[in-house]
Amino acid sequence: MHSRWCHLHRASQSALFASENLIDFRRTRRINAIKVARSKRDPVTNSRTILICSGKGGVGKTTLTANLGIALAGQGARTVVLDADFGLRNLDLLLGLENRIVFTAQEVLAETCRLDQALVKHKQEPNLALLPAGNPRMLEWLKPEDMQTIAGMLSERFDYVLIDCPAGIEDGFKNAVAAAKEAIVITTPEVSAVRDADRVIGLLNTHGVSPVQLVLNRVRPKMMANQEMLAVDDVTDILALPLLGLVLEDEQVIVSTNRGEPLTLNGSASPAAKAYGNIARRLQGEDIPLMDPAKDGRRGIRARVRQLMQTKIF
Ligand SMILES: Nc1ncnc2c1ncn2[C@@H]1O[C@H](COP(=O)(O)OP(=O)(O)OP(=O)(O)O)[C@@H](O)[C@H]1O
Ligand SMILES: [Mg+2]
Repeated sequence: MHSRWCHLHRASQSALFASENLIDFRRTRRINAIKVARSKRDPVTNSRTILICSGKGGVGKTTLTANLGIALAGQGARTVVLDADFGLRNLDLLLGLENRIVFTAQEVLAETCRLDQALVKHKQEPNLALLPAGNPRMLEWLKPEDMQTIAGMLSERFDYVLIDCPAGIEDGFKNAVAAAKEAIVITTPEVSAVRDADRVIGLLNTHGVSPVQLVLNRVRPKMMANQEMLAVDDVTDILALPLLGLVLEDEQVIVSTNRGEPLTLNGSASPAAKAYGNIARRLQGEDIPLMDPAKDGRRGIRARVRQLMQTKIF
């Protein structure tokens, strides 16, 4: 443990080189990702229940849950997204469904409504449904078994149950993790986020959640190429998880968040939309090569040089 953190600090201090041996590591990760996709279905319902968690707040859990949900649904999988962030719910907002909520997970648990009454179907993507989080006061009485009950009900109807986990490792996390069969840990290439992700991975292991895969978010190829940001290899070496995908820093994510229209909804060609789509495909077992941020960074520099050469000086 100690040496891993020494490595992280050395890595961050020396500003890290973008990966030379990315190709080898990509091959291994790809094989792992495919094995994972084929290995973790519920033997009875054939469904997959996946927790999306991070430890650190604000690194992109809800954005990934919404976009992955839309992408999986668009690829034909019956998908439900479950908002387990009872304190600060906003998955409904990101999906543009906030005005269509009548009942929530709270009423389902209290048996004052049926599950199908609480599920909010997405208008444009009928394969996707949301089970909204209840009142924040639910946190006072909700138990891990309650989350297991809800996830069990959902897994009978859907191919994918995606659980949007709250930040932190307190009760909200403990409740959500109890319902999870497998997990996606999302982090940004920052030391504090990677350290929190490492703690969460330890807890997922303790709870027997497996497999666990990694999504690296808000990647900036130029900063990686300039050795100003942790490289992909550094993060995967520290966290020792198979890499499911890389999502670039993309301002379209912020625009779409504010509109309540996930990027994956309308076939956006933005880099992040493509990344979310690829993550969904890898999750389903397709062999999609990972992007090489080092190459992307160099391409960025090359494009700039080309642009400068084309600028006419009068
Ligand atoms: N790839 C990206 N590029 C640019 N902005 C992003 C990207 N991913 C997420 N964001 C932005 O980061 C912010 C936080 O994202 P999000 O709400 O998904 O994080 P979270 O982990 O769910 O946060 P919390 O822990 O508070 O629940 C949002 O404003 C979102 O638009
Ligand atoms: Mg969130």
